[in-house]
Amino acid sequence: MSRRIRDMFNEIAHRYDFLNHALSFFRDFAWRRACCRNLSRRVPARSRVLDLCGGTGDFALSFKKYAGETSLMAVGDFSEQMLLKAKEKSNAYFPVELDAGNIPFRDSSFDVVLNGFGMRNVSDISRALAEVHRVLARGGYFTTLEFFRPDNICNRFFYQILAPLFIPVAGAFFSGKKEAYVYLVNSIRNFISVSEYTKLAETFGFEKVAVKACDGGIAYQVLLRKK
Ligand SMILES: C[S@@+](CC[C@H](N)C(=O)[O-])C[C@H]1O[C@@H](n2cnc3c(N)ncnc32)[C@H](O)[C@@H]1O
Repeated sequence: MSRRIRDMFNEIAHRYDFLNHALSFFRDFAWRRACCRNLSRRVPARSRVLDLCGGTGDFALSFKKYAGETSLMAVGDFSEQMLLKAKEKSNAYFPVELDAGNIPFRDSSFDVVLNGFGMRNVSDISRALAEVHRVLARGGYFTTLEFFRPDNICNRFFYQILAPLFIPVAGAFFSGKKEAYVYLVNSIRNFISVSEYTKLAETFGFEKVAVKACDGGIAYQVLLRKK
């Protein structure tokens, strides 16, 4: 577990929601909604759902709203403060303190795993993918919503030139934690591309169902299915 990353999310938890929405120009709601709509056509009624790296619970809430009733909804995260915020927001799910590299649920416990802007932060992405695969039931869906390393020129310009100029400044102004927002920009620039991510996931026994660009590739939704 990366203690540094966990401490950072604990420190920014009180301003996370506001900054997350503001820095995406409130598009994060629409991106989560689109993922959940895509899932709604596929998942069984009253499915068991894990929102992994679920933070303050927004993806879980979006799933409830747009993809239907669940029989089990867990929000798993290693930051206690982010989970406290999730708890304050709703009792529609139960928060679980966990590390994505060592998920404390039995094999095949879930029909759906959600991951919103989490994979970029885990210290060992292969291990996290293996764990997601293990806790999903056969035929279960794993959806990732993420800022991948851009591979087109416009998005490269945005993430290499514009984002480093305004994101850390806005983050420092509203949360007082500039380093966390310098980290955010660097984590996107140093992450893998969406096609590399999909190929990696396939080596862990997932099949690609759909990959969709959100707002021209600022973010991507990757829908995978356990074979
Ligand atoms: C950028 S936030 C995303 C929160 C939420 N999913 C959303 O859509 O807004 C990333 C979250 O991943 C969590 N996280 C990072 N690495 C983790 C790990 N190895 N295990 C569990 N949670 C982790 C952080 O604590 C943080 O809450």
